[in-house]
Amino acid sequence: TTKPVVLSGCQPSGQLTLGNYLGAIKQWVQMQQTHECLYMIVDLHAITVRQNPQDLHQACLDGLALYLACGVNPDESAIFMQSHVPEHAQLGWVLNCYTQMGELNRMTQFKDKAQKNQSNVNVGLYAYPVLQAADILLYQANEVPVGQDQKQHLELTRDIATRFNNIYGDVFTLPEPCIPKNGARVMSLQDPDKKMSKSDTNPNNVIGLLEDTKKLTKKIKRAVTDSDEEANIFFDIEKKAGVSNLLSLLSATGGESIEALVPQYEDKMYGHLKKDVAEAVVALINPIQEEYSRIRSDQAYLSDVMHKGSAKAREKASDTLSRVYKALGF
Ligand code: ADP
Ligand code: NA
Repeated sequence: TTKPVVLSGCQPSGQLTLGNYLGAIKQWVQMQQTHECLYMIVDLHAITVRQNPQDLHQACLDGLALYLACGVNPDESAIFMQSHVPEHAQLGWVLNCYTQMGELNRMTQFKDKAQKNQSNVNVGLYAYPVLQAADILLYQANEVPVGQDQKQHLELTRDIATRFNNIYGDVFTLPEPCIPKNGARVMSLQDPDKKMSKSDTNPNNVIGLLEDTKKLTKKIKRAVTDSDEEANIFFDIEKKAGVSNLLSLLSATGGESIEALVPQYEDKMYGHLKKDVAEAVVALINPIQEEYSRIRSDQAYLSDVMHKGSAKAREKASDTLSRVYKALGF
């Protein structure tokens, strides 16, 4: 029996956040039971923004160690660096030729990122969703665990795959997004209309998985709640973005549903909620941090995991690329 294939990845562009964990990595760990899993560090994607080489190298290893610390198991999953599997770039080029400019023009993440970094709006940033399509299609992935922010990119992946299959026969499997019910969209602490992102320039917006837990607690206690007069606690993303984000965080970290949580805060203040969120986040993060510091110092182990992971990944990747090249007449 063949298990469904899962592919996902995070960028090594700064410290992974609680958003990355709840939106992606937490599901990765659970899916190891039931799926064939491939998890990468997308270093090729990271260079769409200018990186310092030494920092990038360290960030890749940090990310790898953090995946492991979160419970991704190298005996069950292929864990690897995107750049160690050259087929990503090779298929990326092919798919560029089957993607219309008009499709990429509609990508909201490109518009946001181009707006934020106007001095380096490069072609790679523009074609980012095509490389992402290659990442997924290369492994014939059935499911892609992602946060809400990646939904549009995944739809594009399906469109590109469908177009290619219509011309050349069934070369690619069409992937489905799996977006978690809780934690799909963790928002910034100071700006709850914006998603939490590791590349945010305001550190007070972000809960880093490796951050000092005392600092985290302070940040959570200073999170923006609401300026409306109704100082009571209920879930309403439009009217109460800050409070709703805190409720979502508590639900995603502590495991209780939002409907079950709200009545518990009927007579309580925002401060109570923040204290509970901080405690739940610290309880989640503490064991991850302990495991991380043990793993991160073991360079030999990390490079062993990486090499095993990319060898495993290449078996599948080279198989798909051969089929693609054959279909094209190469
Ligand atoms: P970032 O925006 O923090 O740089 P990436 O682009 O590396 O994150 O995304 C890695 C994974 O984490 C993706 O699956 C993405 O959907 C998920 N993710 C990123 N930010 C969040 C968030 N704020 N809430 C939920 N999931 C998120
Ligand atoms: Na991102």
